[in-house]
Amino acid sequence: MDAIVAARFLHTFSPTIRTRTRDLNVFRMSSVPTPAEHVDEDNVIRNSPGGGESLVRSNIRNMSIFKATQPIEVLSRRLGKKVSDIVKLDANENPYGPPPEVAVVLGTLQFANIYPDPDSGYLRAALAEILGVGSEYLVVGSGADELIRLIMSVMLDPGDKIVDCPPTFPRYEIEAALVGATVIKVPRMVDFSLNMPQVIEVTKKERPKCVFITCPNNPDGSMISDEDLSKLLNLPVMVVLDEAYIAFSGFKSRISWVKRYDNLIVLQTFSKSCGLAGLRVGYGAFPLSIVRYIWCAKLPYNVSVAAQAAALATLQNPIYVEDMRRSIVQERERMFGLLNEIPFLKPFPSYTNFILCEVSPGLEAKKLQEELEKMGVMIRHFNLSDLRGYLRITVGKPRDTNILLDCLRILHKGFPQN
Ligand SMILES: Cc1ncc(COP(=O)(O)O)c(C=O)c1O
Repeated sequence: MDAIVAARFLHTFSPTIRTRTRDLNVFRMSSVPTPAEHVDEDNVIRNSPGGGESLVRSNIRNMSIFKATQPIEVLSRRLGKKVSDIVKLDANENPYGPPPEVAVVLGTLQFANIYPDPDSGYLRAALAEILGVGSEYLVVGSGADELIRLIMSVMLDPGDKIVDCPPTFPRYEIEAALVGATVIKVPRMVDFSLNMPQVIEVTKKERPKCVFITCPNNPDGSMISDEDLSKLLNLPVMVVLDEAYIAFSGFKSRISWVKRYDNLIVLQTFSKSCGLAGLRVGYGAFPLSIVRYIWCAKLPYNVSVAAQAAALATLQNPIYVEDMRRSIVQERERMFGLLNEIPFLKPFPSYTNFILCEVSPGLEAKKLQEELEKMGVMIRHFNLSDLRGYLRITVGKPRDTNILLDCLRILHKGFPQN
């Protein structure tokens, strides 16, 4: 079926695919349902005898739907603004996108009709050369997210424990809950550094199977030192080190440590520094004693033909990726200085592509986020008790920073004390 026939077919028969745009390959949805909207709550029969909700595992019945950030075209529709009028600084995406080679390989993609390589073999070989670990340590996933899920499903029986250090990336807690594991939380200190004595004590006492450490941490951008990491690695626990943002830190990745430590897993991703968030490619280095079981649990065709080709093409242009990384780091420092001049924000120094800001007492962080959204600037507010007075802002292009700062200044002028 060529594109025109496919378009006619969908236009005529599909109740959900609506207006065909000028570009035959692009369809626009007239309404985009969020997950909650898929379900007509009034028509849900919750507890039919022996069926319905009663069949859902009890730990999942208590979970709520994760509110992920939305892509720009969905936002554009929701906010009634043109895509070009939206400044998207809410999901730590890379504003530059991947090198031009990616568009070329995607435009000339062969073998979309054939299942992808289940081993991501070429990609693992290319990564092994760059990372200094053999490809036998590496598994590629549909984003680092998938690898976090795989770690949980391979390592945790219901009732097993993990240590989590909030505020941090929420996926660890969610995935642990999915498998019925218990999450022991060791909150970070007020400056967001790890509470090392507490992590060590809890690990010795509670015997968790895994400790999850994000380095640099999301949402504050802080690092763990070699000394502290070594202390954790001397404990009888699997340390999962999530290095999603390591490229922006200026520090060396610890991925090659996996060869030395049988209790270290390191995760990285193409989503942030390589600009491929939309194609979903992440990878992890696993101890050889564990990696076999990750392969057992992994879905065979977890990384699409397009995703593997795009990631390989990205690796072929390291100069582009390095330029992009340098621009983002440079812009982060400029943005930090500018945010520091905003009287109601206190930015935290960051080793990532985002900056966490504390909002002055008396002002509501959520309200600020909503006001900025009305102006077309998307930033992140967390509905969490330990982050209620904070906002996280992704580093975009210089123009994005300038618009953000203009909006913040406008908001400041409107505050009652002025
Ligand atoms: C700390 C951290 N780890 C992992 C991920 C997920 O990365 P991916 O896009 O590769 O699934 C994110 C995404 O925001 C993140 O912040």
